[in-house]
Amino acid sequence: MNHIVPNDATLTIRPIGQTFGAEVAGMPIHGDVSPELLVQFVAALHRYRVLVVPRADVGPADLVAFSRRFGPLEIHSRFESTLPDHREVFCVGNVGSASFSRGVEQWHADSSYRPVPSDASLFYGEIVPPEGGDTLFADSTAAYRSLDAAMKQRIDGLVAVHSLESLRQWGLRHNPDRKQAIDSQTDSFPPVRQPLVRQHPVTGARSLFVCPAVISHIEGLPIDEGAALIDSLLAHITQPRTVYAHRWNQGDLVMWDNRAVLHTASLFDHTRYQRLMYRTTIAGHAPGLSE
Ligand code: OGA
Ligand code: MN
Repeated sequence: MNHIVPNDATLTIRPIGQTFGAEVAGMPIHGDVSPELLVQFVAALHRYRVLVVPRADVGPADLVAFSRRFGPLEIHSRFESTLPDHREVFCVGNVGSASFSRGVEQWHADSSYRPVPSDASLFYGEIVPPEGGDTLFADSTAAYRSLDAAMKQRIDGLVAVHSLESLRQWGLRHNPDRKQAIDSQTDSFPPVRQPLVRQHPVTGARSLFVCPAVISHIEGLPIDEGAALIDSLLAHITQPRTVYAHRWNQGDLVMWDNRAVLHTASLFDHTRYQRLMYRTTIAGHAPGLSE
C-alpha cells in the first residue's frame, strides 16, 4: 500500500568488474520494497555475484530489515562484536568491540566453517578510512569456468575439510592478537566437509570454494599436495581479471553471493584512521555434504 516505488519501476544496473560485479541504482533500502524490485535485485545478484549500492545511507535497523528480505540471518559466533540492539549486525573494524585484525586476512567465503555456510552477506560502510581498507572480491565462478578440462576433472568431487581450528592456527601465525577471539568459538564448530567445487543452487554454475586459512586438508590427498593444489587454485582465482576491489565511501552497501565469489579485507593505517563496517549474513539453506 505504501510502496514508495511504483510497481513498474526498474533497477539501473551498471557492470563494474571484468567478469562480475555491478552497481545498482533505484533500489530503496529503507522502508517497503516492491516484490518486483526485489526479484530484479535477486536476479542481479545471481547474475553479477557482487552488487554495490553506492551511498545507501542506512541505519542498523533498516539494514537488518532489508537483509531479512533475502532470508533468515545468522547471528555471528563472535557475539561480543555484534550490536547489542541488533544482534544480526556483526561489526568489523577498529572501533569499540568490533572484530579487528591488525594483520593480513585471507580469501574466504563467509561461514564456511558452518555445516551449512552462508548464502550471502551484506556489508555497510559506517565509518570508512580515507585510504586503504578496500574489500577485495574474487570471481571464483569465472575462475572455475576458465580452468582447463584436466584440472576440472582432477578437482570435481574433491572434498575440503574446513575448520575453525585451522583458522585459529593461521591466525596465530599471522595475527597473534586474534588468538583469544577464535579460541572461544572452536568448540562449538567442529570441522565440516565442503565440496572444493560447489554448484550454485539457483544458477547451477560451479565455483571454487577455496578458503586457504580455514581448510585443514583435502580428503584423500597428502597434506602438502592438498596445500599446493589450494595455492595454485588461489593464484588462478585472484588474477587481476577476476578481482574487483571495492573502494569504500561512507554509506556504501555491498552485497555478495558467498556461493559464487570469495572476498577478503585489505590493510589500512589503523593508527591514523577509524573503520567501522556492519555485516549482516544470510543463513544458508542448501545443506553441504554429509559428515
Ligand atoms: C567480513 C569480511 C572484509 C573487510 O566481514 O566478512 O570479510 O573488508 N570483511 O573488512
Ligand atoms: Mn568475510
